[in-house]
Amino acid sequence: MKIMIGIIGGSGLYNIEGAIIREKIDISTPYGTPSDSYTIVDLSGINLAFLPRHGTNHTIPPHKINYRANIWGFKKLGIERIIATGATGSIDALMSPGTIVVPDQIIDMTNGRETTFFDGKEGVVHIDFTEPYCPELRNFIIEAGNTLGINLRKSGTYLCTNGPRLETKAEIEFYSQIRADIVGMTGMPEACLAREAEICYASIAIVTNYAAGITAKKLTATEVIENMDKTNALLKNLIKKTILLLPEIRKCSCKEALTNAKVN
Ligand code: HPA
Repeated sequence: MKIMIGIIGGSGLYNIEGAIIREKIDISTPYGTPSDSYTIVDLSGINLAFLPRHGTNHTIPPHKINYRANIWGFKKLGIERIIATGATGSIDALMSPGTIVVPDQIIDMTNGRETTFFDGKEGVVHIDFTEPYCPELRNFIIEAGNTLGINLRKSGTYLCTNGPRLETKAEIEFYSQIRADIVGMTGMPEACLAREAEICYASIAIVTNYAAGITAKKLTATEVIENMDKTNALLKNLIKKTILLLPEIRKCSCKEALTNAKVN
């Protein structure tokens, strides 16, 4: 059985309804243990591998996620494409909670996370990250959204903070000035590790709240989860539709990301 597509579920997405569970696979990696077992499901005849980023019961905070093990596990399963979901705060007063964004750019403000599979002994690698998300996969998500009549934001800059705390008002003002649109805590180094693994990676970001200081309201984690739950059915439909549209063969350059990227 060939599994072609991986799904990383962010806060609030722990399964895909309508999918038939085939098996659960535990994978050990040279980088440690992934967030959970990979659940292999059959969705309308297409095999998916699903991984909840924060663990089944949401026990792993953003800065403690073993991003390398998670991506390595997908690679070991033979996955060629990953659709990642995640909750985000809106930095734009005109983008309200409930909006679904398919970001096209990233600003990485994390620190202390393991960001590469190539720590020296495997060689030194500088992958091209000009376009951090796979353009082909993004286009299929956008097409799926159009087909379903979902009012998607077709681009946007995702800024990744280290968390787990939320931001200060001054930080959000600064992020706004550097033209970030949404803020989350888990998009990096997930995206660059997927690129190093030559896996296509795109993200569906759900705006669950206005970021700090955008409105006078105090932020709560409860609000994030409640709004994520509200968007969940739509999100699952969008994922399903995207998967059904995807051609088997990849035409993008993600599959050759390591070509000419090695220094030694
Ligand atoms: N900031 C950072 N991460 C988030 C937020 C936020 O406002 N909402 C959901 N994830």
